[in-house]
Amino acid sequence: MIIAGNFKANHTRASTAEYLSALDSLSDQKKEEDSIVIFPPFTALDNYNLKNIKIGAQNGYPAEKGSYTGEICLEALSEFDIDTILIGHSERRHILKEPQDFIVRKYEFFKRNNFNIFYCVGEPIEIRQKGIESVMNYIDKQLENIDVGYQNLVIAYEPVWAIGTGLTASVEDIEEVHKAIRERVETPILYGGSVNASNAADILNSSFVDGVLVGGASLVAEEFYKIIKASANIS
Ligand code: 13P
Repeated sequence: MIIAGNFKANHTRASTAEYLSALDSLSDQKKEEDSIVIFPPFTALDNYNLKNIKIGAQNGYPAEKGSYTGEICLEALSEFDIDTILIGHSERRHILKEPQDFIVRKYEFFKRNNFNIFYCVGEPIEIRQKGIESVMNYIDKQLENIDVGYQNLVIAYEPVWAIGTGLTASVEDIEEVHKAIRERVETPILYGGSVNASNAADILNSSFVDGVLVGGASLVAEEFYKIIKASANIS
């Protein structure tokens, strides 16, 4: 399983360091084959000395370096040996209006640089209400021109209506969508959207689920560790 935490624009440099040190010690008991990935804000990237946790970038501009005010390029990420990135998160698609062709450029760039790419897809509520066929048509558009055969790809299915709302997709809905995505890709498929310590076990035990991408419930190390424990069946 892959248990990933996306801090979004939460945590400072100091609180991230404290968090990582606490979570890294707690995670000594994690299942060997489980991977833990944390995506902190850029200002908290550093050369952490962690045994159990991998650090990823929440975003990146598709260039080595250059005149891209406010963006972070490959050179800056490489300083901290970052080789994992989130691309296509719904908050970047919707709030920051990133269009699919730009997302594809990012994907191609970071693929060329052998990054592990966590590529996010997911439908808004009005599409969900139309049923599974509309949901998959929507997701297919988000997969357009994305090389799904890339070996370092992880897909994160995050229905927009479930993100930060406390509404989680039902296990049946998750399995239905993941099964349909599984017909399109061979890479791991994570679920994201209001995953927490109470619902994690059910979600992680569902078919076609290879892990979770957690926002709000990843922000406190002890809470996030409960999700890691749910994966390892540790009580
Ligand atoms: P929440 O877990 O806060 O719903 O966020 C999910 C998410 O967007 C992770 O990338």
